[in-house]
Amino acid sequence: MSEQLKTAIFEKLKNLQDPISKMPLDQSNPNLSIVIENEKALITLTIDPNEKDKFENFSTDIKNSLKNMSDLQSVNVVFTAEQKIKTSNISSKKFNINAKNIIAIASGKGGVGKSTFTVNLAAALKVAGNKIGILDADIYGPSVPRMMGVSDKPKANENNKLIPLISNDIKCMSIGFLVGVDTPTIWRGPMVMKALEQMYNGVEWGELDYLLIDLPPGTGDAQLTLAQNSKLTGSIIISTPQDVALIDARKGINMFNKVGVNILGIVENMSYFICSNCNEKHEIFSHGGVKEESKKLNVDFLGELPIDKDLRIGSDEGNPICISNPKSEIAKKYFEIANKINLRFK
Ligand SMILES: Nc1ncnc2c1ncn2[C@@H]1O[C@H](COP(=O)(O)OP(=O)(O)O)[C@@H](O)[C@H]1O
Ligand SMILES: [Mg+2]
Repeated sequence: MSEQLKTAIFEKLKNLQDPISKMPLDQSNPNLSIVIENEKALITLTIDPNEKDKFENFSTDIKNSLKNMSDLQSVNVVFTAEQKIKTSNISSKKFNINAKNIIAIASGKGGVGKSTFTVNLAAALKVAGNKIGILDADIYGPSVPRMMGVSDKPKANENNKLIPLISNDIKCMSIGFLVGVDTPTIWRGPMVMKALEQMYNGVEWGELDYLLIDLPPGTGDAQLTLAQNSKLTGSIIISTPQDVALIDARKGINMFNKVGVNILGIVENMSYFICSNCNEKHEIFSHGGVKEESKKLNVDFLGELPIDKDLRIGSDEGNPICISNPKSEIAKKYFEIANKINLRFK
């Protein structure tokens, strides 16, 4: 109903012109916004404050042109000096969490170790003394429940908000808790939006230093929804060194750049393997490709992580190695990366 009314208003207003820019007041005018509530219209036009005298009669012109619309009760016209882009940015952050930093962990494709990285970076940041939450938004394969060893259904508190499950002093919420890890779900744009909103606004996160989000692989609805609706501090991209994974990682970087999300850096996972028999370094997927690429793309390189059997076992058993064996070589690598991140935000 209000959409119809809005269209009808635009239909009338398009015959008027902004007295300074000479742009018609139609749907494509970037300075014009119309909000309808209970048959009342609020019409906002962004103007240059130095020219405000020239708009003195314009408000009356707008009102006159809408005079005979039977389903419109009142019209309020506001001229604002504020840049439209600013106002729309503020009002569009609908998803809120009280976290000092919200970092999205992304990858071009699945299976490169994104969830393993999320869980172990969370653990490393926790050991460094931060309050941490993990939001598992991977709608295609939620794996935080398994990797953190939590599987109960979260309970709601008296405010009807879900209480995150806690593992190793880290608050965890997963899309897997809501739909079941093995339930195949066909996700459509609005469903992704609704589910993510619930995981933000519908969860009692409390105060956090870092919220890490395990994103689904690729460049789909979840990435866009979060970029548009939440205040992301930035993203970290995980890639393996071989070309195919890098091509997809590049797409991810381009997407984040386009939607204005800061890229904190890129990590090379499964960089090499040290054989426990011969102690030699084997570069199974070749090595160093991500570092090279990060230079080309002008993105920070955060580090390389080897293939490590204990890391894999710890992940499968719900014991992040950064907590169960913080002195191990692989855990040290994670602490180095956590330190780089921490230094940036302390
Ligand atoms: N550095 C690593 N060394 C050994 N195994 C790893 C490493 N990184 C990830 N894995 C393993 O690879 C598999 C895929 O990792 P996962 O984190 O689930 O990937 P993604 O979330 O990108 O799909 C898991 O079994 C995980 O334990
Ligand atoms: Mg995963």
